[in-house]
Amino acid sequence: HIYSDAKAASRAVAREIAALIRQKQSEGLPCILGLATGSSPKTVYAELVRMHREEGLSFQNVVSFNLDEYYPMEPDSLQSYWRFMKEQLFDHVDIPAGNYHIPDGTVAYDKVAEFCRHYEDMIEAAGGLDFQLLGIGGNGHIGFNEPGSLSNSRTRLMMLDHSTRAAASMDFGGLPRTPRKAITMGVASILNAKRVVLLAWGERKAPVISSAVEGTVTEHNPASYLQTHPNTLFVIDGAAASGL
Ligand code: GLP
Repeated sequence: HIYSDAKAASRAVAREIAALIRQKQSEGLPCILGLATGSSPKTVYAELVRMHREEGLSFQNVVSFNLDEYYPMEPDSLQSYWRFMKEQLFDHVDIPAGNYHIPDGTVAYDKVAEFCRHYEDMIEAAGGLDFQLLGIGGNGHIGFNEPGSLSNSRTRLMMLDHSTRAAASMDFGGLPRTPRKAITMGVASILNAKRVVLLAWGERKAPVISSAVEGTVTEHNPASYLQTHPNTLFVIDGAAASGL
């Protein structure tokens, strides 16, 4: 779906998420959301917060799993995805404190594999993701599944691409201070979601969007794996669509 601007697009995505939350509420079920960070979903979270405040949208039945976190990363660091999610969404809605999960950037290195297995187990025990929100990196990464990630990959520690670190380096005060690794849900973890919505705004994303949508399915552009998912929607603005 191509929208005139990110705001109109974000409103539509927030409405879909709100409808799903309410449907699950009416069935007495939890709503299991896979959530993303980066600048693209900020407008969706802002709209969800507005719906909570003005339309009484409740998050009491929401259980969420975030895609990724830098490693190592303290939760209270300025750049942590934990902090991002609290600031953009969790602190402004009524989601119960134990209901949201974000990969832990403080786990000891020799415990990371175990932590990643446990993260997958928690998603499965919750019943799997009803909805996965995604952004996309300039190199096609989804979560932090960098090019080369396999379609059967699961939550794991990932070495970040140079281009990913360069894009993040402004937030960290330069490349040398930018983390080299991240914990990310895998491609298979994402493809297991019942519904996937990927957001992309701006001309900068146009080349990667056109190859993800119209190119071959390849590990060189992990977002292209979404072509194999039965219920994925790309929600983009006109500028991001300009290469299609
Ligand atoms: C980071 C995140 C991704 C996100 C990407 C794009 O690398 N780990 O999940 O999709 O940035 O970010 P933005 O939405 O700011 O363009």
